[in-house]
Amino acid sequence: MKKILLLATACLLQTFSPYTAMAQTGQAPQLDLVPLPVKVENHTGVFTLTANTPLVSAPSLTGITELFATMLRAPSGFQLLHATHNSKGIHFDLSPTYNKTLGEEGYILDITPTRIDISANRPAGLFYAMQSLLQLLPKEVEGHELAAHQRWTIPCVKITDYPRFGWRGLMLDVSRHYFPKEAVKKYIDQLARYKMNVFHWHLTDDQGWRIEIKSLPELTTIGAWRAPRMGAWWTREPRAKGEQVTYGGYYTQEEVKEIVQYAKTRFVTILPEIDVPGHSLAALAAYPQLSCTGGPFDVNVGNVFYAREDNALCPGNEQSFELMDKVITEIAGLFPGPYIHIGGDECYKGFWKKCEKCRKRMADEKLQSAEELQSYFIRRMEKIIISKGKKMIGWDEILEGGLAPEATVMSWRGMQGGLNAAKMKHPVIMTPDSHCYLDLYQGDPAGEPLTYSMLTLTSCYKFEPVPNEITDPSLILGGQGNLWTESVPNYRHAEYMTWPRAFALCEVFWSPKSARNWDSFISRMETQLARFDVAHVNYARSVYDAAIKPVKKDSSQPMRIVLTRELDKLDIYYTFDGTFPDNFSPKYTDTLNIPKGADTFRMITYRNNKPIGKMITTSIKELEKRIEKK
Ligand code: ACM
Ligand code: ZN
Repeated sequence: MKKILLLATACLLQTFSPYTAMAQTGQAPQLDLVPLPVKVENHTGVFTLTANTPLVSAPSLTGITELFATMLRAPSGFQLLHATHNSKGIHFDLSPTYNKTLGEEGYILDITPTRIDISANRPAGLFYAMQSLLQLLPKEVEGHELAAHQRWTIPCVKITDYPRFGWRGLMLDVSRHYFPKEAVKKYIDQLARYKMNVFHWHLTDDQGWRIEIKSLPELTTIGAWRAPRMGAWWTREPRAKGEQVTYGGYYTQEEVKEIVQYAKTRFVTILPEIDVPGHSLAALAAYPQLSCTGGPFDVNVGNVFYAREDNALCPGNEQSFELMDKVITEIAGLFPGPYIHIGGDECYKGFWKKCEKCRKRMADEKLQSAEELQSYFIRRMEKIIISKGKKMIGWDEILEGGLAPEATVMSWRGMQGGLNAAKMKHPVIMTPDSHCYLDLYQGDPAGEPLTYSMLTLTSCYKFEPVPNEITDPSLILGGQGNLWTESVPNYRHAEYMTWPRAFALCEVFWSPKSARNWDSFISRMETQLARFDVAHVNYARSVYDAAIKPVKKDSSQPMRIVLTRELDKLDIYYTFDGTFPDNFSPKYTDTLNIPKGADTFRMITYRNNKPIGKMITTSIKELEKRIEKK
């Protein structure tokens, strides 16, 4: 933790790490920015934004100033005016000479009582400065209605800031559940507000093909629709014969263009993913002749099928590549970003091994294994992608059987795939399931909607994308949080699963490693959550709950209960007698014995004698099951 340097200068300039400022001076403004900026110098006074504050910039930058003006319009009622020259107001300027420290996305934001100066090498930096500026305004700026009598003051500070990594991503799976265009835009807007710059759009999978391909209309007329189902994923009834396929949807190319443009104005690059050769059941429902077994297939509804039913394109069939050429041609035309993601993950190869066309391909190409056949498929995909002027990314399975020559690897099964790829001098994006999978439980399963495994906010915040073993850290482009949506049936829940864990990740990807501090993060996160309340963005409060760990010394011993918490200052109260605990109930201090005959365990957390977590109830039987599963 940096110490505050109180400089004895006339302007009382301070350099400080924002999270220490309040504690040590008791008077500096609490900035609570997420992600934490590289450097903040604290001045005295405030700038007050009024209806007459001009937004001063070159005409080419009005895309950025207009976003700022639009954001202010509803809560302030101001119609902020743009100007190219004015001595006052908020100035957005590109630096006349390139500032190496700031790089491509950094900025300097200098706020004085009379004017605000924002400078950067590139427009992206001005955009990120604007995000910091918005966070310095009162939280009412996030509102959709007029906040009458609100004073729009901004503390006088000078921020110098730039990101640690160039790739700061969030992935949304729109196949397992479909989220309409407006929801996708809202997701992009939120990630950009926290200085993330890649939206990885998982557009196709076994449960739905979600992008219009004009030359292959059946991909969406058939592949975008499935029988409607609720209930736990992988326990669902498959589509019945003749059952209507009424759940689904897809993005038309017009909608895609609109979303691409929306992302572009927020300096977000979209990474489209077409997941092949596995995860292709929705495509095969439309084109069953491209499988090894011939079909017919239904778009999966969340019923178990893996290894029982074919869901991979046949790499022995030339038509598979012809189809992919058409798809990639249209994808490359729609998305201006440099990369296309081709998936490559979790491909079941059992049907390839039995397929005549696949065997012939293996003989002709002298391939020794199904993994080499997958590698053959991916290499051909890379050729197609390069021929359209793009670069290929794949999940770390693309290392198996030999990595395609120019591939970038997205490491998800831990960090090892990324490490292996970097050893071969390939670029890597780190997104290990141990730290980045936002579909996993973020609190005790007894207090959360059904999903599986566990990824706490603490684990997200501990993520370190550059492993010690790496010899060339520049190969680690950055990292990404991934929201798979098997257990995310609506957009509100997508937000719940994303935030606040994505706050932790955006700080990992943006802020200096040395500045990471859990207590500071939590306090800044709480400020952001209050802003989300105003903005009507959903989020999880699971970090305020305790988690239950049933323990047994050995099978002959009775089960006991250990309670854990992510935040120190929480008190946990519990009951075993079926009643609702409060802060007059027993307080947890150490491992609990379960009273004879107890069938229910309940707990709730308090902070400063106020309830803060949710009431969590579970049966002793459920806890026994947790021990058996281990
Ligand atoms: C993945 O989670 N199958 C990339
Ligand atoms: Zn085949």
